[in-house]
Amino acid sequence: MNQKKWVLMATAQTPTNIAVIKYWGKRDETLILTITAAIGMRPWFYPLMISVSPLIQTTFCTTTTVAVSPLFHQDRMWLNGKEMSLSGIRYQNCLREIRSRANDVEDEKKGIKIEKKDWEKLHVHIASYNNFPTAAGLASSAAGFACLVFALAKLMNVKDDEGKLSTIARQGSGSACRSLFGGFVKWITGNKEDGSDSFSVQLADEKHWDDLVIIIAVVSSRQKETSSTTGMRESVETSMFIEHRAKDVVPQRIIQMEEAITRDFPSVARLTCADSNQFHAVCLDTCPPIFYMNDTSHRIISYVEKWNRSEGTPQVAYTFDAGPNAVLIARNRNIATQLLQRLLFYFPPPLDTDLNSYVLGDASILKDVGIQSVKDVEYLPQPPGISNNNASLKYKGDVNYFICTKPGRGPVLLSDESQALLNAETGLPK
Ligand code: DP6
Repeated sequence: MNQKKWVLMATAQTPTNIAVIKYWGKRDETLILTITAAIGMRPWFYPLMISVSPLIQTTFCTTTTVAVSPLFHQDRMWLNGKEMSLSGIRYQNCLREIRSRANDVEDEKKGIKIEKKDWEKLHVHIASYNNFPTAAGLASSAAGFACLVFALAKLMNVKDDEGKLSTIARQGSGSACRSLFGGFVKWITGNKEDGSDSFSVQLADEKHWDDLVIIIAVVSSRQKETSSTTGMRESVETSMFIEHRAKDVVPQRIIQMEEAITRDFPSVARLTCADSNQFHAVCLDTCPPIFYMNDTSHRIISYVEKWNRSEGTPQVAYTFDAGPNAVLIARNRNIATQLLQRLLFYFPPPLDTDLNSYVLGDASILKDVGIQSVKDVEYLPQPPGISNNNASLKYKGDVNYFICTKPGRGPVLLSDESQALLNAETGLPK
């Protein structure tokens, strides 16, 4: 390693990951080993219509820059611009694991040569930014740890594949295990004590079923009262129902979901809704009970259930992670258009809202809905099957905003240095 004052960086972007079969409960708290398998799908966040940060204008996800330099005296991390401690066991485990797999790195242009043995002595700086609400039940820890592990693996020239990297990301956060791939991903439970057989595999990539449309209703972007980590620990300790779920329900559901992902939408929808409801039932069966959903979440479930029943076969699936936000999966764009129309009917934006900040992502669906301004929302037709008595029930302001998206890809490396969150000379946040 030459001693010139250099900084070497890598920047990655990772969209978040939503579970269709939920992970809830650990058999090992330190290694983060799950009591059941879980399946997640990754929504792809389209270019933002509003700019959340001047640094990030392209996608709606986690961006992480990692840097290494002989100038650094300790490992440091900044999350959303604020410095935070890296002393927690989860960060320490991820950093140790990834360092132990590092290889020689050479950047001829910059005159940098790092040998495998040097990595133990070198410190890293990490800057991470979520351009969606952190800890509000939108899987920010999944995207965060997967992005961190992926970026560090690139920086340190780690040669392992995504499956192996998923065992490292898993030690940061269970759901991060599923976030190294795009499309539909399964986290395999594994049996070994050391967790080496608890990793993720891709079931289908994002192109396999690209007519699916995902609409997320961000009901509240406040941080949740009970973190997933605490919530699932309390469920394992106190819920009698969780054992039944782990033993008798999830194993079979995983098999059925794997089959259904071959493009059987009604089965995917039934399984997804049932699993979300069962996960929230386990939360309710926990002592003290955990309430992640609120009245708005329940209203959304009831609208979707009624619609699906009236059609005779599911058109839309809903799922809720550890928060009140609804992730709605429509079987195609036509159904998504009808869904957005219904959602806007029930949850119209306050009149002074800019429509572009109320429907984010692929807002082109708004054109199909026939809406150009907030005023147009008032004239949306009453959804079919709703009695006139109920038609007046509108809940203005109960949804903060909607995001329209599709199944998305896995982590990517950003080669454009202008997108890095750390300064290329100092290695400090820009
Ligand atoms: C409800 O992965 O956030 O979103 O492993 O303790 O970090 P830790 O928990 P986390 O739990 C996610 C729970 C969930 C379901 C899921 O994503 O499968």
